[in-house]
Amino acid sequence: MTPINQARSAEPAGTGPREPARDDCGHPLDPVPKPETGASPIRIGHHTLPNNVLLAPMSGVSDLPFRRLAHELGAGLVVSEMVASRELVGARPDVVRRASGDGLSPHTIQLVGCEAHWMAEGARIAEASGAEIIDINMGCPAREVTGRLSGSALMREPDQALALVEAVTKAVRVPVTLKMRLGWDDRSVNAPAIARRAEEAGIRLVTVHGRTRNQFFKGTADWRRVADVKAAVSIPVVVNGDITGPAEARDAMSRSGADGVMIGRGAYGAPWLPARIAATLSGGDDPGPPSLARQRSIAHAHISDMLEHYGRQLGLKNARKHVGWYIASSGMPGEAARLWRRRLCTEECAEKLLAGLHDFYVEAEEHAA
Ligand SMILES: Cc1cc2nc3c(=O)[nH]c(=O)nc-3n(C[C@H](O)[C@H](O)[C@H](O)COP(=O)(O)O)c2cc1C
Repeated sequence: MTPINQARSAEPAGTGPREPARDDCGHPLDPVPKPETGASPIRIGHHTLPNNVLLAPMSGVSDLPFRRLAHELGAGLVVSEMVASRELVGARPDVVRRASGDGLSPHTIQLVGCEAHWMAEGARIAEASGAEIIDINMGCPAREVTGRLSGSALMREPDQALALVEAVTKAVRVPVTLKMRLGWDDRSVNAPAIARRAEEAGIRLVTVHGRTRNQFFKGTADWRRVADVKAAVSIPVVVNGDITGPAEARDAMSRSGADGVMIGRGAYGAPWLPARIAATLSGGDDPGPPSLARQRSIAHAHISDMLEHYGRQLGLKNARKHVGWYIASSGMPGEAARLWRRRLCTEECAEKLLAGLHDFYVEAEEHAA
């Protein structure tokens, strides 16, 4: 068993004390001013979040560079991609990298698994390596996860789910949170009952994606049904699903009565979105998306961090989807955006990608003028 921090030292990138993110001119990237939270700040154990807007765990998206960026820009909490507990215990290098959290506090690792023993062991290793909050995945609908009775499949087996939750809360001193869906399908909406039992087992916050597992990502998230979870527990409840802007966030909060919101796909190409939403939820005006010049700095810092974190080859490959999303959220008109996407998302040279990204934003600014 190799603790994460030992395994980390063997990693080529993303190690050592962290420098602040820099823009394409080498200047430190200023954070978006962190908005004050409203009347009810979210507490998770001894952590009080700076605001009540969380960035969702998203496998293949919420890696360390993306989380660091969203955190620097003002997200209230960022959660790692799901980390397979058994593979973490086995110190599989890619899994260890998913769990890394340099530059983040509170560093939150989401664990996925189906066996209480491995989940507890994984939680101990995560804690020893610096995790300050552990989140349990009970929401993933993917067949390769549910087929192994992990993720949302646990909602079909509440007793096993609770055994697993108890094993994790007993294994670590850091607070443990839970992310789930409404239930397995429409006939078995059991999120309120599971949340209540999870609270008794020591869970400190619960996030609910307002869909059942069998909906996958179809239809729309039902924020009202999250209200039943809120009524069932006294720990903070976070509502999730289809929240793509300040108006949806306000609506989701008022329909669910939740304490906070979690943003997933809405943050594609927009790592500033959680901070925008936080500003409005705390009673301020929507600052809107940053200027294109600022977006250029943010995208540059993000892609540079990815290249450093993964190494050039893998970094370039993993950066492509983010580049596509940055182009999409820039407001560049369709055909021009398509040509830029084709050019930048097939670029094989890291320097040319960064230079091309710069040129893209210059052109986007000209289009917008
Ligand atoms: C690409 C992708 C990867 C995801 N990976 C995870 C994951 O690792 N753990 C998890 O709990 N949920 C995961 N989710 C679900 C999201 O956290 C979130 O619950 C869901 O996307 C609904 O929120 P949204 O409508 O704001 O995107 C993932 C979703 C997407 C789109």
